[in-house]
Amino acid sequence: MYVSTPVRELNLILFGPPGAGKGTQAARLQDDFRLPYVATGDILRAAKQEGSELGLAAKRYMDAGELVPDELVVDLIIDRIEQEDCQDGFILDGFPRTRPQADALGAAFERLGRRITAVLLIDVPDEEVVSRISGRRVSVKTGRPYHVETDPPKHEGRCDIDGSRLVQRDDDRPEVVKKRLDVYHSETEPLISYYDERGLLRRVDGTRSPTEVHDHIRAVLATLRLEEDL
Ligand code: AP5
Repeated sequence: MYVSTPVRELNLILFGPPGAGKGTQAARLQDDFRLPYVATGDILRAAKQEGSELGLAAKRYMDAGELVPDELVVDLIIDRIEQEDCQDGFILDGFPRTRPQADALGAAFERLGRRITAVLLIDVPDEEVVSRISGRRVSVKTGRPYHVETDPPKHEGRCDIDGSRLVQRDDDRPEVVKKRLDVYHSETEPLISYYDERGLLRRVDGTRSPTEVHDHIRAVLATLRLEEDL
């Protein structure tokens, strides 16, 4: 059974369609709370780049816009959030994405006596997703996302954090984006009611500017903190 966690331990899940702004908000929340950022997509992309067994297995699913099979991601992510640096909390992005993943996360948390603080749904319609993803550029080193129009880097083509090169992601081609959206609606969106029924879902209007979305998330977290103190 899920119940809101004590606020000292901030176990946050960023949820929403591809291109909703999960990575963008994660960068800001990391600055706010100094929590480890666990992004399934980044972990899988790093494995792909290294050419590891996992990366090779994941590549064909990712490049086609499909989900990597649960058996490849569940233990990987649960082991990661059980590590020492995640004991005070974490920002989880891109997991869970299927009902079995959500059930596995719930079972792991129950075993560990930990609880999800909130599932932050960043809500954005499909048309906006397509326009955002077409302008997205990401750092080859930090993975930090930018947008050529709405969130450009200070120096064109270079990451603000370390000056690394910005590139377009392999799965950001229009036909793959369409597939990713279809997969989101069929496999992942049902988790909205799953977490809503458990009192964990908090909706954020993701169509606003990155700063407004960030302010809204901070307000949501402040409210949770107040509720906890009552
Ligand atoms: P993943 O890397 O998780 O991709 P995703 O969920 O599709 O999300 P994105 O990274 O595309 O978008 P985002 O919401 O982070 O948006 P961003 O902040 O960049 O997964 C990739 C693949 O890995 C999957 O397809 C699957 O194959 C595999 N995978 C991952 N997890 C898995 C799992 N659990 N199980 C199985 N397979 C898994 O923003 C997008 C753009 O919009 C940027 O250019 C940004 O600058 C701009 N932007 C952001 N916010 C705003 C705003 N408010 N206004 C205007 N522009 C904005």
